Amino acid sequence: MVKDKHGMGEPDKDGEKVSLTTNSGEPVPDNQNSKSAGPNGPLLMEDYHYFEKMAQFNREEIPERIVHAKGGGAYGTFTVTNDEIAEYSCADLFSEVGKETDVFVRFSTVAGSRGSADTVRDPRGFAVKFYTNEGNWDLVGNNTPVFFIRDPSKFPDFIHTQKEVPGSGLKDPTPQWDFWSLSPESLHQITILFSDRGIPASWRHMNGYSSHTLSLYNESGERYWVKFHFKTDQGIKNLDPEEAKRIAGENPNYHREDLWTAIENGEYPTWTLEAQIMPEEEAEEYHINPFDLTRVWPHGDYPPIEVGTLELNKNPSNFFQEVEESAFSPAHLVPGIAPSPDKMLQGRIPSYDDAHRYRLGVNFENIPVNKPKNAEKNNYHQNGFMRTDGNLGSGPNYEPNSFGGPIEKPSVKAPPLKISGNADRYKPQERIDNYKQPGDLFHKVMNEEQRQHLMDNFAENIKPVDEKIQKRQLTHFYKADPDLGRGVAERLNIDITEAVDQKLIELDDTKIRNAKKVEDLL
Ligand code: NDP
Ligand code: HEM
Repeated sequence: MVKDKHGMGEPDKDGEKVSLTTNSGEPVPDNQNSKSAGPNGPLLMEDYHYFEKMAQFNREEIPERIVHAKGGGAYGTFTVTNDEIAEYSCADLFSEVGKETDVFVRFSTVAGSRGSADTVRDPRGFAVKFYTNEGNWDLVGNNTPVFFIRDPSKFPDFIHTQKEVPGSGLKDPTPQWDFWSLSPESLHQITILFSDRGIPASWRHMNGYSSHTLSLYNESGERYWVKFHFKTDQGIKNLDPEEAKRIAGENPNYHREDLWTAIENGEYPTWTLEAQIMPEEEAEEYHINPFDLTRVWPHGDYPPIEVGTLELNKNPSNFFQEVEESAFSPAHLVPGIAPSPDKMLQGRIPSYDDAHRYRLGVNFENIPVNKPKNAEKNNYHQNGFMRTDGNLGSGPNYEPNSFGGPIEKPSVKAPPLKISGNADRYKPQERIDNYKQPGDLFHKVMNEEQRQHLMDNFAENIKPVDEKIQKRQLTHFYKADPDLGRGVAERLNIDITEAVDQKLIELDDTKIRNAKKVEDLL
């Protein structure tokens, strides 16, 4: 056990302490007794120290993150162990074996509020800020390689289903199953969420994924599509659901404490960063839409290459200033790494800094944890609440100028991307299959015990929901794998033949499993 468990520092020693002061620096003579008219009289307006203390106190809380409100974080380093990636990206952080980059990482749950329990069934955020020499690169991922939806306009609706219902303010599984059963693209993500990996034993024992496809480009202007995976070196470990419920009551900060304690004890957790790389031109022909966030690229198609090691080795010294005020964004990129046309990623790009401006203020990037600490910030943005970094000094504050101000750097321009088509609102059109990959996960990747757990977890959660919604969802399970549909139906005492379309029942199971597009079978 660490001695200084809560990071309060050394106990008092003999000797003089510094004087307590007001915010303006005036020493405070008495911090225990407010100033009153006589020993039992009313308080005096002139006790400014008391008013200031209360005014600060009343403003201690800032808005919590609208999602991923509960979390914890730590500092560390990323070290390149294989520079093959430098063929594909000119990003300086990947340039040579042994190259080290400072990082700050925040882990989180998605749905719960700031004080909620860590050990719930929920995806986990895995957000990494690389303080590179070319600015900060944020890889704002989750512990799952896919997501519930493939169009960002569905995100607020989806998140509403994860939070308390508006009337009673209580948690209720109905909205989520209603939404999921009406949005079958969620099937892959929920198959992961309700598997054993849906409740990690700790943040140290889970993987992290960019989930999205990003793009890399090299100095010759060649573009590659990429998916990043952080594979835990501690091994995957999960919590039994009943054990997780008990821990949630006993210690809501269980995962935060686990990370803190491991680092204090010198047991630094590490992850191996891997990348799947796809040459630009292969995207059009690949049988999976590589920009669909509900699907992975099978490893057999694009084998992951090793990139480096992420190690966490330093706890924050002030939780509020370093973890609560940390601000990540998929828009924070560096030369050599760029977005892809993934609609979800495109939708996230403007959303995060907008959220930070609301939550932390327009100058949130001056907060030390968010500053590009290994690169300079040079631009003409000025003023705003809490601007404290010199604010461009005496100028210039416009561009172009003749007074030595920063200028553009055309050499970092990403290669052009060919786009075609009419501007419109398109329904997903091609290479859509909501069932094959969840089916593969259930049938090929999970062992028998994991399959049983998955079906138990699904049934347990959907049990209180209206039967009409249950049946709609059972059809999706059945389409992914008939055994999955049957297994959950049995646990709900529902006759699967009543739940799903009769035409599907009549088809041979293997035919369903092997079909490229299950919808075509109907
Ligand atoms: P592989 O056999 O090469 O890989 C299977 C992957 O599944 C491994 O990365 C494994 O992670 C991961 N996995 C095992 N159990 C679970 C679980 N309960 N939840 C999430 N991931 C799990 O197969 P393919 O690449 O052909 O993919 C088959 C299926 O595996 C996919 O349809 C997808 O559902 C799932 N998967 C694929 C990933 C990919 O990038 N290709 C990534 C993660 C999942 P580990 O190595 O840590 O054990
Ligand atoms: C946090 C929006 C999808 C990972 C947030 C926040 C917003 C947001 C507004 C809060 C930011 C803050 O106040 O600090 C969205 C939108 C999405 C989306 C609009 C889809 C259109 C995703 C996906 C992932 C993800 C697909 C993972 C692959 C995270 C993480 C955080 C977060 C890890 C917490 C970052 C931290 O630790 O501070 N998201 N999100 N989000 N999101 Fe998303």
